Amino acid sequence: MAQELAPDLRHPLGFDIVSGAFKADPFPTLAAMRDAGPVIPIRLPFVGRVWLATTHAACLAMVKDNELFVQEGRHAGRSGVPGFAWWLPKPLKVMTNNMLQKDEPDHRRLRHLVDKAFARRDVLAMRGGIERIADGLIDGFEGRPTVDLVEAYARQLPMAVICDLLGLTDEDRIEFSAQAMKVLNITSSLSLLMTAGAFNRMLDHARRLIEAARHAPRPGLIAELVAAEEAGDRLNAAELLSMIVLLLVAGFETTRQLIADSVILLESQPDQKAWLLADPTERMERAVEELARHASPVQMTKPRYISRDTDFFGVSLKRGDIIMALLAGANSDPAVFDAPEALRLDRFPNPHLVFSSGVHFCLGMQLARVEAQSAVGRLYARCPDLRLADPRRIEWIERLGVRGPKALPVVLRPGAARLAA
Ligand code: HEM
Repeated sequence: MAQELAPDLRHPLGFDIVSGAFKADPFPTLAAMRDAGPVIPIRLPFVGRVWLATTHAACLAMVKDNELFVQEGRHAGRSGVPGFAWWLPKPLKVMTNNMLQKDEPDHRRLRHLVDKAFARRDVLAMRGGIERIADGLIDGFEGRPTVDLVEAYARQLPMAVICDLLGLTDEDRIEFSAQAMKVLNITSSLSLLMTAGAFNRMLDHARRLIEAARHAPRPGLIAELVAAEEAGDRLNAAELLSMIVLLLVAGFETTRQLIADSVILLESQPDQKAWLLADPTERMERAVEELARHASPVQMTKPRYISRDTDFFGVSLKRGDIIMALLAGANSDPAVFDAPEALRLDRFPNPHLVFSSGVHFCLGMQLARVEAQSAVGRLYARCPDLRLADPRRIEWIERLGVRGPKALPVVLRPGAARLAA
């Protein structure tokens, strides 16, 4: 009966997209959500009642239309920023100044300042350095029969890479990483309150980094951004702080999940792993696209406001309401992907929306790709025989929008990392 009624935000559908059971196997729920409609009303933790685009076509149309779906409340008769950015820390006032929360022309101005550093050519030039970071972390496995791959590898690598890019010292990286871990552990309103202190410490730390760069610039993006701010009209002080925090956190947890999820997938599908390891140099790029599609480590975009009343995929949307795109739904849509539940590392073409699309598509897309390719490549080059300690007992992070394991203990053959180096 309910299905015959027009979709209505006052009657949100009850899908569980946060529990460990969902994260362990999201495909059936994602299929049920697409079956319920390309745009459905749902109630989400933190965000409340929102519209959710569930299919590839609806998600793509949503993220491409940055006039109908906006970031700034003032463009939709509301105030502030919509909902809660679950994979970023609480958008305290300072965070509303970052590019992800801005519409044009401010978004373009802010993104332009950092676009070059994240462009494909510049990122490809970083591959050697990223592989060295991976090798250094694998060196640390030596003599340890089991290793938590999340803690010792997947979490460390993206943090080291972004800190290098920004020009942070090792000391800063360790301090920052500890704060970021606390902030990103938010799973409830209570934990949000408890982590406010850590977030403030992170902001204070970023402020100190900016001051240090003013007085004794080190090579890196922070110094470049400080120079842009000092030059005048391109970036103000609040935007500078917000940008640095965004760059530090946006690629940290997301890439960690992609690396850990990739190992889980490869270990669960020995035929696919064998195919990849038979010629990793040739096959890694395509394989990582498929690992990313299948895992969908960022399951949804952040919320947007609807800027005017409209009909969207047959659903009537009202100005000021909130909408999000279920990227994991898009990435498993059988209208676009043949047998979407199957991991086919040679899948091509692979028009997934892992990094979204439209003007806000992921700034760090190329970097994340090279990080994942290097992380998976070096890990299996040196530890081809690693296996999950307990494949049946993976504990998933129960947080909206994020898909990854809390920890990933792996068993290593003694001396394997050293011998294969
Ligand atoms: C596997 C890793 C990653 C995934 C899956 C991912 C995913 C995404 C997605 C889906 C968005 C769009 C969010 C939205 O529209 O609401 C986004 C935006 C963004 N990402 Fe990533 N990301 C990853 C890694 C990175 C890295 C390494 C960085 C670099 C620091 C980064 C920086 C950003 C920034 C700055 C934005 C905002 C772009 C804008 O508003 O123009 N991401 N990312």
